[in-house]
Amino acid sequence: MNLQPGDINLAKQDDIARFGAAPYEYFEVLRREAPVFWNPPPEPQNPGYLPCPGFWVLSKYEDVALASKEHERFSAWENSVLWTDVRENPAELAAQRAGLLGMDPPQHTQFRRLIQPGLTPRKVADLVPFIREHAQEVVAELAGKDQVEFVFDVAAELPMILLCQLMGVPQHQRHEYMRLGNKAASFEYNPDFQNDILELYLFLDEVVKSLPGTQDDTMLSKYLHGEVDGRRLTRDEITQFFLTLSIAGHETTRNTTAHFVRLMDEHPDQKEHLLEDLDGKLPNAIEEVLRHSPPVMQFCRTATCDIELRGVTIPKAHKVYLSYVSANRDEEVFEDPNRFDIGRPNADLHLAFGTGPHFCLGASLARTQLQCVLGELYRKLPDIELAGPPTPMNSVWFNGIDAMALNVCPASSN
Ligand code: HEM
Repeated sequence: MNLQPGDINLAKQDDIARFGAAPYEYFEVLRREAPVFWNPPPEPQNPGYLPCPGFWVLSKYEDVALASKEHERFSAWENSVLWTDVRENPAELAAQRAGLLGMDPPQHTQFRRLIQPGLTPRKVADLVPFIREHAQEVVAELAGKDQVEFVFDVAAELPMILLCQLMGVPQHQRHEYMRLGNKAASFEYNPDFQNDILELYLFLDEVVKSLPGTQDDTMLSKYLHGEVDGRRLTRDEITQFFLTLSIAGHETTRNTTAHFVRLMDEHPDQKEHLLEDLDGKLPNAIEEVLRHSPPVMQFCRTATCDIELRGVTIPKAHKVYLSYVSANRDEEVFEDPNRFDIGRPNADLHLAFGTGPHFCLGASLARTQLQCVLGELYRKLPDIELAGPPTPMNSVWFNGIDAMALNVCPASSN
């Protein structure tokens, strides 16, 4: 494809769909020719949701990191971290600002403190026996099957089991929770979005009723009983937290699991390296998958003043699009960035989890889950292979896979 800056609109799903994955080639052109580039509002606009006002695309690693860290100039609070414009819609603006992702420090720091202590690497280490046991169950389910749909039937399972455990959602309701979370995540193609969100909130009400009256160790309970600035949290703050986790807590890990299996299938030499020393090579292989195919394409910020960057002025109040996909392939940071190499020495410098004050709270948990489930999968079923091309998600937001059939190769499943 011979591409120029402006050839595709990053807010248009149809344009993304042309690539069958994240538009890596387009970002390569932007990094080289227009690293701070104005992406105009798409035509037509998304039918069911708020309009997109256009945004400045940052495609260089250094710039994405800078904007993620400098919340005074690049605010999450001003106009949400989505690529839509919520300023004209007071209810939506308030809802976005009630969520962790839509706050700036110092308020953001206080809310983060409510749940951060439960997600530290040390706390996650305590969960390893639980995670391992469920990873074994998920993989054991595959034994004896010829073919499976991997993304929703397998890769989604462990993240949902863990999310329910941490949130306090009863395990038997996890498929319903996932269904509602997936609907909430798909607002870009869902004109019925507002009704689906209401359904999620009703589900939350039921979960809250089933919780004990006193505080326990679940994240939801910490939000329900927690205080910020000497006051209890509002209903909006609690529902936004539930909504954020119903997307952030599983969609990303599910897609990374699927990308891992896809990439191993597409790169048999790398799979061979991995299997030579599975336990030793798996952690860096996971980092390389996150670098090469990050499951979150972007989040946005809003300029709080005119900002000069690489000779371009980003005007005050304009949206700024932070491309994790592009930052992770910046040739100034990663040598031969399109190559998938599980031995890459600096793979873990990737920005798949963001950086700065909003750095992913679930990073440690996600890494541990991925190690447990992928370790178990390749130990027990090293011959698994794709049964056909995966179906990409074609989203403006997620670099995901909607379906992927795998041959399980029963001969090796013992
Ligand atoms: C491979 C898996 C994951 C990836 C790639 C990922 C990626 C991200 C990214 C890019 C952000 C936003 C960073 C920013 O705006 O600067 C984020 C935020 C967040 N993630 Fe994750 N995530 C993953 C798994 C998880 C899990 C398992 C959980 C929880 C169980 C989680 C909870 C959160 C929360 C609560 C935030 C908001 C943090 C804040 O605004 O302070 N994530 N994640």
